[in-house]
Order: sequence, then structure tokens, then C-alpha cells
Amino acid sequence: MTDWRKVYKDKIVTAEEAVQSIRSGDRVVVGHACGEPAALVEAMVARAPQLRDVEIVHMVAMGPAKYAQPGMELSFRHNALFVGGSTRKAVEEKRADYTPCFFSEIPRLFRNRILPVNVALIQVTPPDDEGFCSYGVSVDYTKVAAESAYVVIAQMNGFLPRTGGARIHLDAINHIVEADRPVIELAPPAIGDEEKAIGENVASLIPDGATLQLGIGAIPDAVLLFLKDKKDLGIHSEMFSDGVVALAESGVVTNRRKTINTGKFMATFLMGTKKLYDFVDNNPNVELQPVDYINDPVIIGQHENMVSINSALQFDLMGQVNAEMIGSRQFSGIGGQVDFVRGASRSPGGKSIIALPSTAAGGKISRIRCELDRGAAVSTSRNDVHYVVTECGIAELRGKSLQERAKALIAISHPGFRDQLAAEAREKGII
Ligand code: COA
Repeated sequence: MTDWRKVYKDKIVTAEEAVQSIRSGDRVVVGHACGEPAALVEAMVARAPQLRDVEIVHMVAMGPAKYAQPGMELSFRHNALFVGGSTRKAVEEKRADYTPCFFSEIPRLFRNRILPVNVALIQVTPPDDEGFCSYGVSVDYTKVAAESAYVVIAQMNGFLPRTGGARIHLDAINHIVEADRPVIELAPPAIGDEEKAIGENVASLIPDGATLQLGIGAIPDAVLLFLKDKKDLGIHSEMFSDGVVALAESGVVTNRRKTINTGKFMATFLMGTKKLYDFVDNNPNVELQPVDYINDPVIIGQHENMVSINSALQFDLMGQVNAEMIGSRQFSGIGGQVDFVRGASRSPGGKSIIALPSTAAGGKISRIRCELDRGAAVSTSRNDVHYVVTECGIAELRGKSLQERAKALIAISHPGFRDQLAAEAREKGII
């Protein structure tokens, strides 16, 4: 028996024992998305009657986020770095907060103690022969949170895929909770005709040999459906999901022509089903690295023909993107959109694409408008935007004047809204 094996045994506790380390007033950072250590979060929530003013920081909560439910206000305050389905209502009702920040910046917030971390709740695989655990499906800010926290509590989950790249040694973990549970899954989205039309338009902009970043949801997945005849695509993406696995298996994604990290699927977190988790498990070609590497525009820009594909809720005719608010309601967050838009624009031959349906609310609202909704934030500035794609076509805005971009955007708006948009634009002196 080597030393780490003895140390390991001494660190094993129950979830209930482990969360005794959380004290009132602490800031607790929770592993991201499908990497959420559910057993630890449940045990922490069960301590609600004994805790006061504990701040829970993370991005997408894929679990039920019980700490953000009504009645928990005295014990917990959620500080969301992205708003998802289980935390949206709490943010809207001001029982939780949203902190705007680029995904690539989050490690800096923890490391530089702008948001000092008291406790990190993370999920890891069982150790390898040298005592190193894999972070599984969430390295992103989780690694830096673990390195910055005074106390690191890890749920050790035998179901978690062992991914290459960043890892943590048992020495750096204070308490280990052995809890084997199926990893949280994200079902593939439904892809309708509209998404398919958008996907086909986006795919027409992707050359053979391109390195791709794909956002989350139906549109990126629809794009993948139209890449079957491409050759030697690569992945350098904040995250990827099941759709990429299908393209890897059919030989379309080879990572062979990537300028850096050649041959590797590079990501900072993963979200998908067991199919994805089986694909990445012990796969020597898959590497997860922290988000301040993967999403660093300078790193992204080193790839030739980098193509980033993200989505939005709304555009105005100057090309300003709202990807996160519906009116003054915080619907999601900025995530890595600007990181990749900027990175792709530095890349030789690179393209950044924002793809969205031309309408919302069952066709009643045009997503392309003279002005963004009152109260909505600009997520990506007009100076950064390159290609905008809807089911109606493609607008290339880079280098275009205000009048030219307004006309280009009206041309890809829904035909039912075009005349009205043009009339309004003339009335406001935009064109
Ligand atoms: N006005 C009113 N309602 C609107 C609207 C608008 N302008 N735009 C969208 N909606 C409604 C939709 O109709 C939909 O409602 P429904 O669920 O009742 O049908 C809902 O809001 C969600 O819109 P949708 O476009 O389907 O969202 P999505 O799940 O495809 O996510 C973003 C789109 C923009 C929110 C998402 O891509 C995001 O958060 N992006 C920012 C972060 C990012 O880009 N990260 C990068 C990599 S992951």
C-alpha cells in the first residue's frame, strides 16, 4: 500500500459529516452543470435549519436547486453566474442574484479572491494508481474553485467518466464522500424544421478542416446534422454533447487538422447522455481543461478556420446581440459567447456565427427588431458580431455600415415582419 491509499481511507466520511465543514456566512462553490455533486448538495440543503447566509455560487444548476426555493432565504442565497431552468424563478423573484461575467473570467474571480471561496463541492472519479482523480464532466471553474477553497469536499462517483486533461490529487481533497450515482444527463433537444433550416445555413459557412465551437441546444445540434459530408473537422468548444459523438464515429470529426491540440477533442465541460459519457470515458483523445484556457480568446484565435456557433434571443438593427434577457428578466447568461466570438475573429480564416430563429413565441414576435427590448442587456456588441444566421438566410455584418447592416438584418428577418421593420427603420432614421 502506498501512502495515498492510507490517506484516502482517513478522508472518507458520510455526506452528512462532510457538510459539517460548511459554516454560516461561507461562500460555497458547486461543480458545474452535469458535474454537480448531487449527494453533497442534498446533504448541505438538509442542514438548512442550522445554517444562515450561506452563498451558493455556480453556473448552470442541473439539479433541483432546492437551496433556491422559497423558504430557504435565511439559510442560503444563490449567486448565479448563469441562469438555468431550476434557478430562473428565484432570480426573477429576487430570492437569488445573477452576477454578469464572461465564463473565461470566473477562475480569476476565485483565484484573485474577488469572490473568495470557503468551500468547494466537487465531483470526481475514484483515484488512479498514483492517487489522481479525474474531474469527469466539469473542469471549467471547478478546478480553480478547488484550488482556491479552504475546504474541498469531493463526491467520489464510480459512474463518472474518467476524462483526460485536468485532474486532482487526493492530497488536495479534505473530505471524500463515496457515492456512486448515475451522472446527471441532458436529453438531446427536439429539432424541428426551423432549426434544420438554420442548421443547413450555418453548415454552408463551415469549411473542411474547420475547428468548431458549438453552443448548447437545438440549433447547434441541428448544425451537426448537416456536417455529414464535411472532412476533418475538429472540436475546441466550451462543451460538446451527443451530436459530436455521432460525427466522430462516422469519421467527420477527426481533429487531424487542428492547429493546436491536434488530434484532441478539447472542452471545459460536457453535457449529454450516457452515450457521450461512454465515449469520453478513458478516451485518450478527449481533454478537459479549465475555462480560462479553453475559452481564452487568444488560445481560440490560434486555431486556423475556427468557427464559433452560438445563439441569441434578439438582435437590433445595429447588430447588437441580446442572448440572455427577455425584457428586463434575466433568462440565461453570457456564458462563453463573447469569449468565442472574439477568439474566432482573431483566427486566420475564422468565423463567428450567431444563429437564431427569426421569430419567437410561436411566430408572434420578431427576434430582429429596430431596438432591443427595454431593459435588455447587450450580450455581444455590434463591433464583435460577424455572421448572423436565421432560417431565412445569412447576414455578414463585419465591415458593414449601420445602414448596410440594418438592410442585411431586415433581409433575414421573417417575411411577415420585413415591411414593418423597414418602415420603422425609416421612421427612426436608421435607413
Ligand atoms: N421575446 C420574447 N420571448 C422570447 C424571445 C424574445 N425576443 N426570444 C425567445 N423567447 C422565448 C422563446 O419563444 C422560448 O419560449 P418557449 O420556451 O415558450 O418556446 C424561450 O424564450 C427560449 O427561447 P429559445 O430561443 O428557444 O432559447 P434556447 O433554449 O434556444 O436558448 C439562448 C437560446 C440564447 C438563451 C442560449 O443559447 C443562451 O443562453 N446563450 C447565451 C450563452 C451562450 O451563448 N453560451 C455559449 C456557449 S454554451
